Amino acid sequence: MKKIRSLSGMLDLFNDSDASNSAEHIFRVEKKLKNIFNTYNYNEIRTPALEETDLFKRSVGDVSDIVNKEIYTFLDRNGKSISLRPEGTAGVIRSIIEKKLDSSSNKFWYIGPMWRYERPQKGRFRQFTQAGIEILGHEEGNSEYEMLSLICNIIDKLSINNSIIKINHLGDPDTKKAYCDSLVTYLSSYKNELNETELERLDKNPLKILDSKSENTQKILKDAPSLKDFLPKENIDLLNSLKDTFSDFCKIEIDYSLVRGLDYYSGFVFEALSNELGAQDAFLGGGRYDVLSQKLGGKNLPAIGMAIGVERLASISSIPKTQDKIVSFITITSKLEPKAFKIAHHLRSLNKKINLDVNLANGSLKSKLRRANKINASHALIIGDDEITNECILIKYLDDELKEQELVKFDEAYEIYKLL
Ligand code: HAM
Repeated sequence: MKKIRSLSGMLDLFNDSDASNSAEHIFRVEKKLKNIFNTYNYNEIRTPALEETDLFKRSVGDVSDIVNKEIYTFLDRNGKSISLRPEGTAGVIRSIIEKKLDSSSNKFWYIGPMWRYERPQKGRFRQFTQAGIEILGHEEGNSEYEMLSLICNIIDKLSINNSIIKINHLGDPDTKKAYCDSLVTYLSSYKNELNETELERLDKNPLKILDSKSENTQKILKDAPSLKDFLPKENIDLLNSLKDTFSDFCKIEIDYSLVRGLDYYSGFVFEALSNELGAQDAFLGGGRYDVLSQKLGGKNLPAIGMAIGVERLASISSIPKTQDKIVSFITITSKLEPKAFKIAHHLRSLNKKINLDVNLANGSLKSKLRRANKINASHALIIGDDEITNECILIKYLDDELKEQELVKFDEAYEIYKLL
């Protein structure tokens, strides 16, 4: 029979290796991120993985690659077009409008899976996890500083080396339009040198051409008009001030060619990159999106946010493994012994710092001790028929070869376990 395999670009995560994408490491990274978000006093928000397709068309943009080429869209049983979320911001704003919270200020965080039908490669998956934050209800200013403070904190607490935060300002809609027009005029004289995608972008989303991977296009862009020449002084001042404020903590660079792949941005935008990541070098990105709420039928709600690619961040984070203490609980009884489970249940309530691994197999004591060693258990608590009759537990000190095993009464075993 043909084997069923996982879908391309979708990972199974396990705990059985030291790999940077082991479930345990990713869990630790997520826990650290949640702690950081909580220390900034943000609240968690969870929105569904499935939304109406129109939500993403109207927010992320129907000329963006994400909606045009990468979104997982299908009809539900009622014939309604629904999509797996390719990112978290649109759902958060939809939810805020629905709950009529679009006239107040709020600070949210979320973590969850996102889906994009991209060509899988190192660091690029079709299902990946984003941890995001959204600061709602504040005009440009304080929240830009808070955002950079958060990013520097993440880079520090997650021990990320060789990172750089690139920042830019897309100006207001008039500035953006004036710059786009001038870029289109300039690039139009190189039409025969642009590839098919770039020609399409020239029409629909010219700023994205600045992101081109083609060497020739990048050469052409060297003499293109610069966004800097179109930006009002206050936008440039903001970038300089942000850079000055946080340069003691993180490497920050102003990059006037930084553009984002989503349509909803206006104003301040940023990405954090690491050269340890390879071609997919951005481990987080975001920016200001003041018009999204109104575009989705809500009130005027200035907003700024960012999302972290958790798998990418985890792959460059060197936070150490926490050394959990593991104890192996082994039963060698001639028949099923519910009492042993009652004892294990009680032990768990006595010392919550210990991971108690109850060996559920039917094997020999030898094979069970082999497993206890394999999982690095420090102790084995062994219960056989005699132990049950005499109300005793045999304790083996696996992490100390010189220490003799001891047979102790249940109560004494409980006292020892409390202090392990
Ligand atoms: P984004 O730049 O599209 O922004 O994604 C944010 C991060 O998600 C990226 O920097 C990257 O680390 C990770 N990422 C994206 N695609 C993939 C993939 N295929 N595989 C692995 N990781 C990936 C957003 O999604 C915006 N919603 C951010 C935001 C929040 N802006 C305002 N609020």
